[in-house]
This record gives sequence, C-alpha cells and structure tokens, in this order.
Amino acid sequence: MSVAENTGTADVASIFQDVELPSPPKVALVLLQMIDDPTVSVRDIAAVMGVDPSLCARLLKLANSSAYGQRRQVDSIDRAAVVLGLDYLKVICLAVQLTAPFKSWKRAGVDVGILWRDAVLRASLARHAARIAGDIDYSKAFLVGLLQDVGVPLLATAFPDRYAPHVAGDVVDHNALFAWETSEFGYNHPDAAAKVLDSWGLPPSLTRPIAVHHSLKAPQSDMAGLESIAVVAGGLTFGAAPGCTHNAARFALFSERLKLDKNSTPVMVRHAAAEFAAISALFDELVTPTTNPRELLAGAIDGIVS
Ligand SMILES: [Fe+2]
Repeated sequence: MSVAENTGTADVASIFQDVELPSPPKVALVLLQMIDDPTVSVRDIAAVMGVDPSLCARLLKLANSSAYGQRRQVDSIDRAAVVLGLDYLKVICLAVQLTAPFKSWKRAGVDVGILWRDAVLRASLARHAARIAGDIDYSKAFLVGLLQDVGVPLLATAFPDRYAPHVAGDVVDHNALFAWETSEFGYNHPDAAAKVLDSWGLPPSLTRPIAVHHSLKAPQSDMAGLESIAVVAGGLTFGAAPGCTHNAARFALFSERLKLDKNSTPVMVRHAAAEFAAISALFDELVTPTTNPRELLAGAIDGIVS
C-alpha cells in the first residue's frame, strides 16, 4: 500500500528531501527483527537490553508497579517477562528505543510533552481495548497507539511556522489537524508516520494501521482489528470539552467494529488509566505527567464511563 493512501495524490516523500529524518538506535533494529519471531526467548531480549542498563531498571520498576499487582518483588528480567508477557516486553523495549530519537525534539510554541502524553494514553487504551475485544495482538495495538502520531513532529519540523499553531496548547484535535494537513499539503501525519516507520523497517502489520488511523473507510480484513483500534484511539481528543460530538461518534464506531459490550468500557478505561503512570515513566523525558489519566480517557469517550 502506498503510504499516501489517505490522500490519493500525496507525495509525502518530497518533504523528507529537506528534512533530516531521525534514526532509531541500532538496538531498535535488532529488536525489530525479534518482533514477529516466535523463537525469541527472554534470554535473547535480555542480551539485547544488556546494552541499556537504565532500560532494564525501568522495566523492573514497571513490572513492580501497582498496575500489575505483584506481591513478590520482580527483580529479574525473567520475572518481568512473566508479569508483562514476553510479547509485551519485546514491544515495550522496542517502543522505548523507537521513541528515543524524539527526545531532543523541542519546538517553540509546541507542547511536545502533551503530544507524547496523548500518545501514551492512546497506546494504553489501544492495548486494553484489544485485550477486551479478543483475537487482536494487544502488544502490537500498544505500539500502533504509541507511534501513530510520530508524523506530527516530523511535519512540524518541515513546516514550523504554519504547523505550530495547530499543535499548541494542551488539547490537540487530531481529526481537525488531519483535515487541515490534507488540504494544506496534500498529505498528512499518518502518511508521514507510515513513511518514516516503513523506512525504519517496521512491518506492514504496524505501518498499515498507522497509515489509515484517520481514515473511516472499512478496514482491510486481514488487519481489521488493529486498523479499527488505530482509527478510534487515534481519533479521540483528550481534554476536549464535555459533549464533544466527534469523540462520541468515534467511540460509537469503536464499539461497533470491535463488538465491545458497553459494560466492558469502564474496565478498559480503568486498566488503561492504571497503566498510564507506570508506562509514562518509561518515556520520562518525553511525556508530560498527568494526575488524571482516568478522567482524560473517560472524558474522551464522552462520559460513557461515569
Ligand atoms: Fe493522528
């Protein structure tokens, strides 16, 4: 699929002729080879992570957080793999490495921490929605939620003066942003994200949902679950005023596509909110902390969770 599918005519590659693309650390490329390899063991991952002791320490802190309810101290990567699950452990390590190039990205007039706060909220919500929906790789759902908006800083770098006013403040409506980008440039941040992540070697099972996360076309059957999760997690606006109609519409679509029982949504929000603080700490230099993740998540689905 062309990464420009959202617009049909876009030549997103042209912007990268003038913008220096970030490069992921080498260890990310090694972890990427492991993402779809069922033979990878916790020992393999531990060997790769041995080059990053601070990441090991943060993973143990995550596994010991209240979100996972462990009575026994988690003091080894082996135990962390049991608590978090091996696939999720792989994805978390990869996520930390893939977001590293963005740590130095700062722009006047853009609250970068809020962009990443929203990314972690989307990732946590996507993971727990996938768990409840069933039959969807919820580790990949986390990665899709986290990375789907990396095109925002890339486009903001390419067009700083025009772009900054659209991502200022602590409430960013990505649907409005997507519409403005498409009319202004002929491409948009999903196109840019998919282009960059494809160049980094992410598989289509991740880049395809990211590329279509603001498209309301029916999802492809072979990736329908992840695409649906990307569309809804990506379309919610955190911190929007109560009664935001596009949040309500997006969540209704989410429930319909994933056949979510209304009673399951409070559970989804509760688990996603509980995990938010622990996950945010993994990306501590990126994410603006929030004391009310549950209110932000519940508010984004328009009061469906009381
Ligand atoms: Fe987006």
